[in-house]
Amino acid sequence: MEPVVSIRHLNHAFGKGQLRRPVLKDISLDLNPGEIVILMGPSGSGKTTLLTLIGALRSQQEGSLKFLDQELLGASKKKLVQLRQQIGFIFQSHNLLDCLTAQENVRMSLKLHTHLTLEERKWRAIAILESVGLGEHIPLLSL
Ligand SMILES: Nc1ncnc2c1ncn2[C@@H]1O[C@H](COP(=O)(O)OP(=O)(O)OP(=O)(O)O)[C@@H](O)[C@H]1O
Ligand SMILES: [Mg+2]
Repeated sequence: MEPVVSIRHLNHAFGKGQLRRPVLKDISLDLNPGEIVILMGPSGSGKTTLLTLIGALRSQQEGSLKFLDQELLGASKKKLVQLRQQIGFIFQSHNLLDCLTAQENVRMSLKLHTHLTLEERKWRAIAILESVGLGEHIPLLSL
């Protein structure tokens, strides 16, 4: 079976000129379907940088990074958006929007599924919140 993520000789640096600091050096790895991987390392060692590259949230500089056999090096912004739609990414610091209800926060990501109607998105969001024990945060008015 093909790996979900395949990385070869990836390098990544922040800053330019004299301020350039390499963070990831010659990283090669494969992540296979169904595999659960724990990435460990000291603070500042580049874990988040690597994950944001895999998640197509950051443009790749050097090396090869394939997600579902699609090369991310040199990928257009449009392509990166398409790839992101196939990746579930849970951020280190949560990014819920204070101005939205719990249900609206969940519903927002379902907007990517353009075949779903507003009503379907609403019921799916309610089911998702209930499945993780947050049913009591659904405003009665939205039911
Ligand atoms: N946007 C940025 N601009 C410049 N340097 C950055 C940027 N993001 C991260 N760095 C630097 O890159 C290095 C790796 O950072 P990164 O956040 O990937 O580490 P980490 O392993 O996720 O750390 P932690 O365990 O604290 O989350 C650090 O030295 C950090 O200061
Ligand atoms: Mg981190």
